[in-house]
Amino acid sequence: MYSRIIGTGSHLPEKVLSNQDLERMVDTSHEWIVTRTGIVERHIAGENELASDLALHASRKAIEAAGISLNEIDLVIVATTTSDMLFPSTAAILQSKLGLANHCAAFDVQAVCTGFIYALSTADCYLKSGRYRHALVVGTEVLSRIIDWTDRSTCVLFGDGAGAVVLKADSEAGILSSHLHADGSQNPILAVPGRVCNGKIEGSPFVYMSGNAVFKIAVNVLEQVAEEAMHANGMTPSDIDWLVPHQANIRIIEATAKKLSLDMARVVVTVDRHGNTSAASIPLALDEAAREGKFKKGDTLLLEGVGGGITWGAILLKW
Ligand code: ACO
Repeated sequence: MYSRIIGTGSHLPEKVLSNQDLERMVDTSHEWIVTRTGIVERHIAGENELASDLALHASRKAIEAAGISLNEIDLVIVATTTSDMLFPSTAAILQSKLGLANHCAAFDVQAVCTGFIYALSTADCYLKSGRYRHALVVGTEVLSRIIDWTDRSTCVLFGDGAGAVVLKADSEAGILSSHLHADGSQNPILAVPGRVCNGKIEGSPFVYMSGNAVFKIAVNVLEQVAEEAMHANGMTPSDIDWLVPHQANIRIIEATAKKLSLDMARVVVTVDRHGNTSAASIPLALDEAAREGKFKKGDTLLLEGVGGGITWGAILLKW
């Protein structure tokens, strides 16, 4: 038994924040941002837009693309770092907004930018075991809420959005393998260290990142986990039709592609228009490429991500 992606969807908030807009907010330049990150613009959620709202739009599109009825979904997993509330889970809120309240299991997964890989892998295990038939797996973020908009080292990097997939238990090949890793000792280099305590936030509620340290780890672990996934399936880079990487920085994506000897023409890139949308970035890229008709039936896709934790992982699948 396999689990297979049968539909994708995504949603970006209407408001676009360009590098030129950021030039007016902090001491930065379009040239610096493009050269160092590849980002040109990103989308920012409206004041009243929550992670579950972005997820709702993306989910509806994914369910429509899958061609199944809503009540065939028996599992909802949401990957997010910016949940609507401390609790309940954004998955439970999304389930209710979809009209599936009290119909199926729903829970969140928190692995920051690797969240979607962790969530998809979790859903795959449930479907392969025969426990559920159809899973809705979503990555959604309103990262703009945890950004210090006076800190140029982080505020130019992130954006908001959501991506979703419907996964079906099937005898036809889909997800071939997933590979998850975490090194919790690296937690200080990428964190939002604040916590709610006695009715107040203690510590900083904003993203802190040691960019250089994360960059070096990212390039290494993304290569390692890609090799691990290919090795587990007896494949080499020439067997990979598409690499769908986490979209944090074009230099990380290009370095990974180069280490794997993958032509950039086989790499899905959205970081220029989305920025880093954390758990949403891989499903957003997946949906965009799918709707552009890039993937052909039977193509081999390698999805991979790295993020706070540090966490990292990869999923190898047949489209
Ligand atoms: N505009 C202009 N100058 C800037 C800006 C800015 N927005 N930000 C930093 N600078 C300056 C710095 O102050 C520094 O100046 P100095 O040399 O005078 O001290 C200089 O630019 C170079 O700064 P670096 O931090 O060394 O720049 P670098 O080339 O490393 O790029 C970046 C920084 C883009 C953050 C990069 O390190 C990166 O992409 N890191 C990885 C991010 C990532 O992959 N995250 C993944 C997970 S995210 C998650 O899980 C939430």
